Amino acid sequence: MGGEFRIGVLVSGRGSNLQSIIDACADGRVAGRVAVVVSDVEDAYALERARKHGIEAIYHAPGRLKTRLEPEREEALVALLKGRRVDLVCMAGFMRIIHEPLLTAFEGRIMNIHPSLLPAFSGLDVQRAAIDYGAKFSGCTVHFATADFDAGPIIRQVVVPIEDDDTPETLAASILQQEHRIYPEAIQLFIEGRLKVDGRRVLTLAKQGEP
Ligand code: GRF
Repeated sequence: MGGEFRIGVLVSGRGSNLQSIIDACADGRVAGRVAVVVSDVEDAYALERARKHGIEAIYHAPGRLKTRLEPEREEALVALLKGRRVDLVCMAGFMRIIHEPLLTAFEGRIMNIHPSLLPAFSGLDVQRAAIDYGAKFSGCTVHFATADFDAGPIIRQVVVPIEDDDTPETLAASILQQEHRIYPEAIQLFIEGRLKVDGRRVLTLAKQGEP
């Protein structure tokens, strides 16, 4: 891959995962840089975080639809990301389902992070769902985004135990700590060309020179 590796991050809210990616780029755990941050929410704190680091931060109006960008807004997002020569798109708390234009333009180059052990508890408010179900473990998942919502090939997962006194908030906090660890790891593996997608499975190739 010639030149610097450029990451585009899609956000909607507080942006703690964005921060973990920015920090990992700064200290060399990720050999790339966040080239642009795009939010569908105008006052998302994530945009503030980006600006603090001198990263271009853009509010991209979603249009009138609730769960997705209007198709022409998604086209415009593709143009925006291509214009910044983005190599990898990372959804980090982006609260919209993505569709055709983006999926096609960045096929195999879009990641998402989700706060449960997929395929269990996809969707929203999943920490509460896991507790209410009585699950003893939850966790987080980094996966490639595909047309199947919350169901693309899984890159990394971490298990987090659910304690009897956990609330959705305490469980979310425990899971978030792990999210901040595995998202940068997954991105770095991608940059190193070590993620081999084989059907539903994502295999991790050994580092060059290692068995
Ligand atoms: C995280 O729990 C992430 O897994 C989910 O939304 C939350 C975003 O948090 N998709 P933050 O904005 O990164 O702090």
